[in-house]
Amino acid sequence: MIERQHWHPVASAGALGTAPVAARLLGEDLVLWRDAQGAVHAWPDRCPHRGARLSLGRIAQGRLECAYHGWQFGPSGQCVHVPALPAFTPPATHCVRGFAAREAHGLVWVRLEEAETQPPAFDAEGDARLRKVNCGPYEVATSAPRLVENFLDRSHFAFVHEGWLGERGAAAIEDYRVEPTPTGLRATGCKAWQPQSNLHSTAPAQVEYGYEVTGPYSALLTKIPERGTTALPEWREAIGLFICPLDPERSLAWFRLAVADFESPDAKLRAFQDTIFRQDQPVLESQQPRCLPLDPRAELHTVADRASAAYRRYLSGLGITFGVCR
Ligand code: FES
Ligand code: CO
Repeated sequence: MIERQHWHPVASAGALGTAPVAARLLGEDLVLWRDAQGAVHAWPDRCPHRGARLSLGRIAQGRLECAYHGWQFGPSGQCVHVPALPAFTPPATHCVRGFAAREAHGLVWVRLEEAETQPPAFDAEGDARLRKVNCGPYEVATSAPRLVENFLDRSHFAFVHEGWLGERGAAAIEDYRVEPTPTGLRATGCKAWQPQSNLHSTAPAQVEYGYEVTGPYSALLTKIPERGTTALPEWREAIGLFICPLDPERSLAWFRLAVADFESPDAKLRAFQDTIFRQDQPVLESQQPRCLPLDPRAELHTVADRASAAYRRYLSGLGITFGVCR
């Protein structure tokens, strides 16, 4: 599975404190924990002694302690203490084999198999003029690719987000360009007429979007308002969508907002995103099949669906299997 060689978000970085946390990625149970140095670790959620869930344990002296017989594992995965045999020095074979784990974009990322890849890029990350706020995670009963495709899709705005991101009287989609990139694809010249495109909108605006697919289960949008249509000409909002494929038909999604607004409380920014996402969720969960069909004959397409068709071709070319059907 090529997707095992990509980095995926598995938890909010802030969720890893003084206790281990259970997570799931590509159908595997993981335990996440933070050591005394603050480094994050992702291991199979199964003690190599008798198979108990390590996420039921606790963190003590910078070690992960199993809840069943108290074996303690150091950050390298090596078992360093067996309480039933205090004088015993566990050999190198008494260890947990962990996965690569790191923090980026306020999330914990895990890669199950070695490869020369990076977590998906988020260009706004290094821009100090933009404030970053994470929204979610949203647990959704559908595949990660269905979620990415929905994010790239503007022709649902007039219906699913009527009065917010669209209006049925303005449902037409002007043609736009799509080109492949090394990590996915880019769509440019994506225009949308929006009644309430963000928290601060006071009037409808014609908004231009740029979309990018930055990995098999991640995407990015940059909102570019036309000059003169907003009181904030500098406004260049970016939203990253980062998805954890829990199971083939169950996903966890985060949005990372990069906004010029440093005033509004986090909760207010999140509430707007929650509202929009709750509008999407019932429709997303109703789509059948829940896997994304990669066979072009399986569903009907128009030129308005260019971006989603290109995304399907990208997944197909990459050889992705999790969350898709052929
Ligand atoms: Fe974990 Fe025995 S099962 S210590
Ligand atoms: Co939507």
